Amino acid sequence: MKSMQRVCMTALVLLVAAGTVFAGGSQARGAGKGLIGVVMPTRSEERWIKDGNAVKEGLEKLGYAVDLQYSDDDIPTQSRQIDDMITKGVKVLVIASIDGSALSNQLANAAAAKIPVISYDRLLMQSSNVDYYVSFDNYKVGGQMGDILITGLKLDQATAATPVIVELFAGSPDDNNSVGFYQGAMDKLKPYFDKGALKVPSGQIDRTVIGTLRWDAAEAQKRMENLLSAYYSGDVVLNGILSPYDPISLSCLEACKAVGYGSAPGKPLPVVGGQDCIVASVKSILAGEQYATVLKDTRTLGAATVTLVDTLMQGKTPTGLDTKSYHNGAKIVPSLLLDSVIVTKDNVQKDVIDTGYHTRAELGL
Ligand code: BGC
Repeated sequence: MKSMQRVCMTALVLLVAAGTVFAGGSQARGAGKGLIGVVMPTRSEERWIKDGNAVKEGLEKLGYAVDLQYSDDDIPTQSRQIDDMITKGVKVLVIASIDGSALSNQLANAAAAKIPVISYDRLLMQSSNVDYYVSFDNYKVGGQMGDILITGLKLDQATAATPVIVELFAGSPDDNNSVGFYQGAMDKLKPYFDKGALKVPSGQIDRTVIGTLRWDAAEAQKRMENLLSAYYSGDVVLNGILSPYDPISLSCLEACKAVGYGSAPGKPLPVVGGQDCIVASVKSILAGEQYATVLKDTRTLGAATVTLVDTLMQGKTPTGLDTKSYHNGAKIVPSLLLDSVIVTKDNVQKDVIDTGYHTRAELGL
């Protein structure tokens, strides 16, 4: 009994000592079930803050200690954070990557240290050392982006004689999600392109041409400004924009407003969707500017991740995973894919406010 007590004391002292070493990161001290490493790409985007909080709080409630790190979208910083976590002896790594293909060395180190890796929201690519993927069904999310334009632009009424005019934006080329978003949206829009009811005056349609590195909304705004001055200087009016991300939607709307959309006669603001249901976009939707967004509830994703970590920590094998959809170039990664919801003015109350995703106060109501 005495020696048992000594072991416990030693463990406690080690934990406390470890706690003093983990400066800079955000972590619960002294939690008994082991340390979990969580890396998120950036604090400058609302969703990743919500994601980080949801995962951290959920794990801490179950008694785990959490080392949560953000890296300002800087790949070397993210790599270093993961290396440090491996050195600290985390039991599971939860990684939302910046560039999905840039972490192969870290993943190999994790595998060598027998640390399971959960790819969070964004698929880690080109490595067999990825154990699970927890995300939304990104192809379906893309389909919802397409549906937003189909409904918002009443594409079913458009014909080759009265085509609807749009420009297209895609997400970061180094983020595999961008592929699903683009493909899902384009598959929905294809019939309208095929019959000539939908047109892109710039001709910029290929994902590699319309991508936005690091989802940078300022870059997207510049591209929108260039498109407007190059292809819309005459009497061609832009009716809609395919946008994969709320800040890009808002930037594109700004670029349009600057050349008279929303104020000049015959130039209503284009129909724009988006993704992430950020506060600024919900406000814009309520103000009748951005048309819609796709809500991917970070609380649900966080909770699913927490359950998965806990299952692994109990030595159990997770069940009910999708083992077909996500090949990362090296293997099929067993995936848990959640559902997302289209949000327009009509369901902000029900799906955003009533569920507590954003409060009325956050939305300025
Ligand atoms: C996520 C989106 C997010 C985007 C930019 C993607 O990987 O799935 O929800 O808008 O990254 O952060």
